Amino acid sequence: MKIAVIGGTGLIGSQVVNNLTVAGHEAVPHSKSTGVDVISGQGLDEAVAGADVVVNLTNSPTFDDASLAFFQTSMDNLLAAAGKAGVGHVVILSIVGTDQVPELDYYRAKALQENLLAAGLTPYSIVRATQFMEFVDAVLSWTADGNIVRLPATPIQPIAATDVAAAVAEVAAGAPLNGIRNIAGPEIFTLDELGRITLSHKGDHRTVVTDPTAGMFAAVKGDVLTDKDAHLAATRYTDWLS
Ligand SMILES: NC(=O)c1ccc[n+]([C@@H]2O[C@H](COP(=O)([O-])OP(=O)(O)OC[C@H]3O[C@@H](n4cnc5c(N)ncnc54)[C@H](OP(=O)(O)O)[C@@H]3O)[C@@H](O)[C@H]2O)c1
Repeated sequence: MKIAVIGGTGLIGSQVVNNLTVAGHEAVPHSKSTGVDVISGQGLDEAVAGADVVVNLTNSPTFDDASLAFFQTSMDNLLAAAGKAGVGHVVILSIVGTDQVPELDYYRAKALQENLLAAGLTPYSIVRATQFMEFVDAVLSWTADGNIVRLPATPIQPIAATDVAAAVAEVAAGAPLNGIRNIAGPEIFTLDELGRITLSHKGDHRTVVTDPTAGMFAAVKGDVLTDKDAHLAATRYTDWLS
C-alpha cells in the first residue's frame, strides 16, 4: 500500500515510516521540513495524492491553548485533502483518557482532533497511547527547582516510542477501525515514583517531593491516563532506561 506519513520526521513518525517500509509498504514521510505544512496547507494535496492511507503524526509546537487551533486547522486541512484524493483510511495518534482531562488545553485539543476525524467522511482509526517513556525527562524538568523535583502521585502507564510506532504501523496497514484502540506500557507507576526511579537510575541525587499541586499532571483526576485493558506493549520502564 502507499501510505503518506504526515509528521514522518518526528519521534513516532520516523519509526512508523521505517516499520511500514520493512513490512513492504511504500511509506512516504512528509512534514514542515520537507515542504508540507498542515497549517497553511502548502504541499498537502500533493502529499496525499495517490495514497491509500494517511497517517497524521504531526504535533503542536506548544501545549497551551494555541494547540486547539493547531489541531483544528491541521485536521480541517488534512481531511479536506484526503477527501479530494479519495484516501481510504486516515490514522491519528491520540492520548489515553484525553477526553477525561478538560482542564488541560492540550488534552482538550487532542479530543477535538479525535472528534473532527470521527465526524469526517473518511474511514479512520484513532490509536490512543499512554505517556511516552521519552517524555518523562521533560515532565521532570517542568517542576525542577534546585535539588527538588515536585511531582504529583498521578498514575501513569509509560510506553516506549518504539512500541507506539509498531502499534501505529500495524493499525495503518489494517482495515479502518472507525473507532479507538488504546495502547499502553506494561506497568503502572505513580508519577512521583516514576520520577524517583528515573533519577536514581541516572545517578541524579535530586529529591522527588510528592506534591499534588505540581505541574500539568496535577490536573488529572484519578487513574484516567491508564488502562489495564489496553493492548499492552512489552517494554518495561527500567529496561528502557537501561
Ligand atoms: N508525548 C506523549 O506522551 C504522547 C502520548 C500520546 C500521543 N502523543 C501524540 O503523538 C503524536 C506524535 O508525537 P511525536 O512526539 O512523535 O512528535 P514530534 O517528535 O514533535 O514530531 C512532530 C512532527 O510534526 C511535524 N510538524 C509540526 N508542525 C507541522 C506542520 N505545521 N506541518 C507539517 N508537519 C508539522 C514535525 O515536522 P518537522 O520535521 O518539520 O519538525 C514532526 O515531523 C502527537 O500528535 C502527540 O499528540 C504523544
